[in-house]
Amino acid sequence: MKHIGQDTKENIVQRFAEYVNPGKAETFKAYDMQFVFGRRDGPYVWDALSGKRLINCHCNGGVFNLGHRNPKIIQALKDSLDELDIGNHHLVSEQRALLAEKLARLMPGDIDCTVFGVGGGEAVDLAIKLARGYTGKFKVISALGGYHGHTGFALATGDEQYRAPFGPNLPGFVQVPFNNIDVLRQAMDDKTAAVIFETIPATLGMPVPHPDYYRQVQEICRRRGALLIIDEVQTGLGRTGKLWGIEHYDAVPDVIVIGKGLSGGIYPMSATCFRREYMEFFRQNPFIHVSTYGGAEVGCPVAAAVLDESSRPEFLTHVNDLAGVFKDGFAELLKKHPRILVGLRQLGLMMGIEMVNDDCGPLMTKACYERGLLAFYANNDKRVCQLLPPLIIDKPVAAEIIEGIDLALKDTADFLGLK
Ligand SMILES: Cc1ncc(COP(=O)(O)O)c(C=O)c1O
Repeated sequence: MKHIGQDTKENIVQRFAEYVNPGKAETFKAYDMQFVFGRRDGPYVWDALSGKRLINCHCNGGVFNLGHRNPKIIQALKDSLDELDIGNHHLVSEQRALLAEKLARLMPGDIDCTVFGVGGGEAVDLAIKLARGYTGKFKVISALGGYHGHTGFALATGDEQYRAPFGPNLPGFVQVPFNNIDVLRQAMDDKTAAVIFETIPATLGMPVPHPDYYRQVQEICRRRGALLIIDEVQTGLGRTGKLWGIEHYDAVPDVIVIGKGLSGGIYPMSATCFRREYMEFFRQNPFIHVSTYGGAEVGCPVAAAVLDESSRPEFLTHVNDLAGVFKDGFAELLKKHPRILVGLRQLGLMMGIEMVNDDCGPLMTKACYERGLLAFYANNDKRVCQLLPPLIIDKPVAAEIIEGIDLALKDTADFLGLK
């Protein structure tokens, strides 16, 4: 077996460019960010060749909430491999049933039923299929600048820049500005099957909505007979300091979609969880949706271990303590960097560093990289650099991250000549 880092950097990049994606290889070359994941452990990743170490503050949007190669998650997979494999997606499955039961206990309200998928986009597609199938209606409303994946219906909810090369959008999809209840009210009608939002839209730079927003959204949905689908792919599993981000709001959606972190960074798994009354659609159409690997049995105990860990009260307390460290840290940074820093958008450890203009996000990404942090700007609001550290870091690592950001903010402001 060939292990990581046995080749030269040039060969790895060249092979990637030739067989995977030349455009990506060129982009990262242009930024001098040809980082190749090598050793990884907890919050850290090392370049396979140079040994450069980064603290992972991107976490693939939450995949590494529990850090890299978390020992409990690795153990769950090892145990699982002793007995299980993919299983059969048509038949009754003990593993999927157990995992769905665990989710039912942890989900808000009567969100008791689950269909499993592999990735977030697939799970969003299923949520929209369910809303349309159950209501017999067509229209789906999403947020401008929101992001739910690059698969069929998920792509159709997103911004034009991601859809344009593939022809006209599917009919029935409408986008509205996020966190604006009046515009949503106007856009809703009796043909609306669903409203779908990320609790806090990550690709839009983590705008935290008004405390009453989701209560009002839910009320409009109920009145119009539309399902409220909440995408917790990034905000779920403790990221915001509660198990589900939507628990910060006075609303229980009809459908919650989760993914990313449910994998434990080890075995892909996503889930579309919905209120019991919508199960009627699957009772009448039991074979309407198929995913060969969705809820693969070998991955179910891994996801169960993620849920056990992420729902522990001490774990959530830890996330909230860390959130306080970042809040205080940024209060200081705000005093130090008024020429570039506008503020920290924050709910728990769902954080976006808001800066003064669109050049700041991309340059901050590079500056963070040079200062030992992996963090990417928000593609749909380039003023913002996303900040998603693993939830398992300790306070010294949090301090190290804040120190790195301090330096990176200075580098970026200097580079831009901000006064
Ligand atoms: C909020 C949100 N929803 C859905 C998705 C799609 O997930 P996947 O890439 O696993 O299809 C993403 C991916 O970044 C996401 O951030």
